[in-house]
Amino acid sequence: MTDLAALARRQYASLDPLTVRVRTHQRYSARPDDVDAAVRAAIGLTPADDVLDVGCGTGAFLRTLAEEGHLGQLIGLDASPAAVSALAAAPGVTAIEGDAQRLPFDDATADVVTLRHMLYHVPDPLAALREARRVLRPGGRLAAVVNVDTTLPTLMGLLATAVATHGFARPRPDGEVGRGPRMASVHDGNLPTLVQQIFGYAETHRHDNELVFPAPEPMVEYAVSCLVGWGVADDEPRRDDVIATLTEKAAALFADGGPVRDPKGYVIVTAVAATA
Ligand SMILES: C[S@@+](CC[C@H](N)C(=O)[O-])C[C@H]1O[C@@H](n2cnc3c(N)ncnc32)[C@H](O)[C@@H]1O
Repeated sequence: MTDLAALARRQYASLDPLTVRVRTHQRYSARPDDVDAAVRAAIGLTPADDVLDVGCGTGAFLRTLAEEGHLGQLIGLDASPAAVSALAAAPGVTAIEGDAQRLPFDDATADVVTLRHMLYHVPDPLAALREARRVLRPGGRLAAVVNVDTTLPTLMGLLATAVATHGFARPRPDGEVGRGPRMASVHDGNLPTLVQQIFGYAETHRHDNELVFPAPEPMVEYAVSCLVGWGVADDEPRRDDVIATLTEKAAALFADGGPVRDPKGYVIVTAVAATA
């Protein structure tokens, strides 16, 4: 297993940190932040579509579709056993453990493949896109979602300072020499090109927003939920020191009473599998 795959395993051994982040976006976005609705609109999802959600996480996207009475097949695939067992109990959804780079499905078996906020965890993102293309039926649609490169600069700065203060190396983009976990840099700047390489073209839909933190606590909670991905494991002896620094630095950001506004954004890159 590569470093990046092993790191993703640790990050999603429990879904609690992911749930903290999802809840923070729901509660504190300046404008409604509905990625599910945006994806559905971008690909024109219809009730009859057979949908494969790769890296499905909590599976909330597929659960909602099932509850609405979606007619087509709904399959969630994830590398995390915790994600698969959480989704296994959901009626109308099939949950499968697997790797985006080697999908356990026949060619041309899905109408829609979604890769939502997951490609930056995959050691070979092009392989994942190639697999998505393979399992799509002719005319089937892809939606890949990633953050814009500059998302949440204040939160990321807080994390960078706190981990560096205690001797951890920040994640490093591909190609950069350094210590610390490798961060696959799939973002708005390069995803359209990757999709184009596999599908021949790509359409980009950008969504900008802000997190508006009324107090330091939710900011610290979000940062703590990211720590495993920043190289600070749950059983790391210096973890409490890192959290103490996060708490102190976050409090300083509210010296004037707040709120603290942190710009964020994501792109949905769509493509259609050629019909021939
Ligand atoms: C940030 S979460 C996103 C979850 C969900 N798609 C969402 O948007 O809320 C990333 C998910 O991708 C999964 N993942 C990471 N690498 C993977 C891989 N190689 N194959 C399949 N799933 C993977 C993780 O286990 C995790 O559930």
